[in-house]
Amino acid sequence: MQIFVKTVSGKTITLDVETTTLIDTVKAPFYAEMIERIKKIIDPSSIDLLISNHLEPDHSGSIPQFMRDYPQAKILTGKMAERGFKKYFPGVPFETVKTGDRISIGSRTIEFIETPMIHWPDSIFSYIPEESLLFSMDGFGQHIATSGRFDDEADMHDVMFEAGKYYANLLTHLSPLISATLKKVADLNLAIDMIAPSHGIIWRSHIPVIMEAYQRWCSGMTRKKIVVAYDTMWKSTEKIAGVLAETLIEHGIDVALLSLRENHRSDIMAALLESAGLLLGSPTIHRNLFPTVADLLCYMRGLKPGKKTAAAFGSYGWSGESVDLITAGLKEAGFDVLEPGLRALFAPDDDDMAAARELARSMIERIGG
Ligand code: FEO
Repeated sequence: MQIFVKTVSGKTITLDVETTTLIDTVKAPFYAEMIERIKKIIDPSSIDLLISNHLEPDHSGSIPQFMRDYPQAKILTGKMAERGFKKYFPGVPFETVKTGDRISIGSRTIEFIETPMIHWPDSIFSYIPEESLLFSMDGFGQHIATSGRFDDEADMHDVMFEAGKYYANLLTHLSPLISATLKKVADLNLAIDMIAPSHGIIWRSHIPVIMEAYQRWCSGMTRKKIVVAYDTMWKSTEKIAGVLAETLIEHGIDVALLSLRENHRSDIMAALLESAGLLLGSPTIHRNLFPTVADLLCYMRGLKPGKKTAAAFGSYGWSGESVDLITAGLKEAGFDVLEPGLRALFAPDDDDMAAARELARSMIERIGG
């Protein structure tokens, strides 16, 4: 066993040099930056082992260049990655591991746990029992770069918002599988003092917080919150959205009022994660939906944001297809849809505004508010 101690950025770290191991790489365009960072700690030509926890190219994209530059390294990846690895990286040698496999890298051991669908079928966790350290690749991640490395060095409100946004946009549709996989991992009774995802901060002080959040998100638990999302041509659909939001707020409902012109589809999904309902509005344009609304419906058909109530609204000039198209799209995305929704000819008048208030009250009743 060979170990040496080194000071990096004022901190003392203990390196296993019997089998110097790199866990995951980065997207291909960031390869040079990754290597520069590694060089601050060790010579990359001393890396003996590369563990690829996840095949998606944000983790694996640098593998071909890394292997051209450092061909001495051996690659280990999940058994389910075999087919994809050969397709992505033809000719690059690798070996596979499965749940229960373990290797010694010197003073430390690495154990492998297959965690399919967190986030692809190939996904695995790598666990170092001597450090109680779990490398969770996509699991518990966030799409942020912080100045601090650990959860207690970052603003937890920001971190949890980003963790939720990440879950909502990558993992929502996989919730039943993720729930089963997390139970399987929990049944292993691993001591975990630190979780290092491949995205965002490293968890060490708020592990129960992120674990509880994942339980909540996996179960589809909601609160009395409704998202009102819309796009608008000449402000008529926007006026209806405003009355819907106002009525919901008057009845004590937490509302996220989001224009699709100013908010990305991923922001709508983040707002929807713990919401009980969605009111989605579009004017009719060319006998169809406004493109931003069609984009959101397409996205939600894949992500299936869970058991939530929804309804459609929108203005029109003569043909008026948008509300029926939204209603159909919401059903395909798995929503419990209140029909027939609300259509307003040209500009909403007092009757249309009264119908909007009635629709808001029906939503409140349906979500049990
Ligand atoms: Fe599923 Fe971070 O890639």
